[in-house]
Amino acid sequence: MNENIIIINCGSQFTQLIARRLREMKIHSVVVNWDISCEKISEYSPKGLIISGGPDSVNEPDAITIDPKIFEIGCPVLGICYGMQLMAKINGGIVNSGEKNSSEYGVTLIQKTNENSLLLNENFPDKFNALMSHGDNVSKLPEGFVSTTKTQSNVIASIENQSKKFFGLQFHPEVVHTENGEKILRTFVFDICKCSGDWDLSDWVEHTISNIKNTVKDEKVVCGLSGGVDSSVSAVLVNRAIGENLQCVFVNHGLMRLNEPEQVMEQYKKLGLNVIYVDASEKFLSELSGVTDPEQKRKIIGRLFIEVFEAEAKKIEGAKWLLQGTIYPDVIESGIKGKKGAALIKSHHNVGGLPEKMNLKLLEPLRDLFKDEVRALGKIINMPDEVINRQPFPGPGLAVRCLGEITKKRLDTLREADAIFREELKRAGLYKNIWQAFCVLLPVRSVGVMGDSRTYNEVIVLRAIHSQDAMTAEWSRIDFDVLDKISKRICNEVKGINRVVLDVTSKPPATIEWE
Ligand code: XMP
Repeated sequence: MNENIIIINCGSQFTQLIARRLREMKIHSVVVNWDISCEKISEYSPKGLIISGGPDSVNEPDAITIDPKIFEIGCPVLGICYGMQLMAKINGGIVNSGEKNSSEYGVTLIQKTNENSLLLNENFPDKFNALMSHGDNVSKLPEGFVSTTKTQSNVIASIENQSKKFFGLQFHPEVVHTENGEKILRTFVFDICKCSGDWDLSDWVEHTISNIKNTVKDEKVVCGLSGGVDSSVSAVLVNRAIGENLQCVFVNHGLMRLNEPEQVMEQYKKLGLNVIYVDASEKFLSELSGVTDPEQKRKIIGRLFIEVFEAEAKKIEGAKWLLQGTIYPDVIESGIKGKKGAALIKSHHNVGGLPEKMNLKLLEPLRDLFKDEVRALGKIINMPDEVINRQPFPGPGLAVRCLGEITKKRLDTLREADAIFREELKRAGLYKNIWQAFCVLLPVRSVGVMGDSRTYNEVIVLRAIHSQDAMTAEWSRIDFDVLDKISKRICNEVKGINRVVLDVTSKPPATIEWE
């Protein structure tokens, strides 16, 4: 049994980031929903509790709240943002809503006000920048608490009750924008909760394989492979657990990159997976014909994928489970069903839909992990680098990069340009350090001149970004000479393109994909 930290999720977009930070410190954590009872939490014998942020205001009548007996369990508690406000309110303090200076969003300078803080101890700088994202603030401390830092507008930024080992932070230590945020979490788990750091990712692999064995037993599992890291790692893990009882299906929707379906099938063979290949490209293209709205495209692709996959899966006798390579950013960006918080940004096509429709039980071993953790896992289970380091590729494929109407001709244009972009980045030694690099085809025509003739052709966008987890991203600064070569090659070699532009937008405000 590993030591546990329990993270109580009150609906923050950052909750799994807290879990991830703990994993980086070799600490095992369990994320539970806010409505869990104190008794259930005690069953985990936690070394400490963390209450996450959340989108509510503690003063609203139907705001998320937690079982107040949680504060009697006897282990240290850290409340983050909304979690701190809940801690203050439940223990008798007052939280201000909507008053002047009560809200702060973005990176804010924080100043220490108490030299004897246990959490922000003597090793901690007097001033530091931290990410704030709150509308309310604690205006009266509960009995037994002291404030330890404040912002420049005099808002209480952290509190603690040293004898009970209750700590509250108005800012987010789990995000990279908070300086020394990791140090705060380390102090909490190691010095205050007395964790030893007895967990690592290979424990996760062993634990997950044995869990899959015990859950699935001798029943059959079907899996839709996409060519990507997430579904491949999930399939190899499940294959290790149940062998031949895993049957994979690869649906070619006609929206893959140049030569990709063939390359992907070859890799699966090498990994020893049992894969049925289905070419459904004509069906997808005919149903997408004339559709230009991004969400409608995603919905059609999602529905067709279900139909095609379902028809194949039905042929697999005795299938009881559906394996999906869902990872955490997919879950959060698609909105968490039935829970407060997490707004819908895009309908990611690999979440939802399938299992309910097919009457299959759902297996999602990677659901709580981030992409780089999945890659680390792939290494632990000895998967080849070319699979592990494949750049993320969206489920709806080139459909969300081919803006406007999707036709075979426009897709082929996009494929050719995209292949040139990636080839030149590889040649310049840049590709492997970029999170994602791809082309987008715009349904916009501009005038050009080639030879002595006028052209009136569509535009290719070069999109390359750096990211840690796809939740935020920074556009990549690619050398101008490399860009020049790419632009010349695309205009010269790809029929129908006379202009190449570079996307210099980060996420936020843009998303990585254009649709
Ligand atoms: P956005 O465009 O939302 O993308 O910033 C975040 C990451 O997710 C990928 N993406 C998808 N992946 N199904 C997927 O499996 C999808 O429907 C989907 N849409 C976007 C995108 O490539 C980026 O890595």
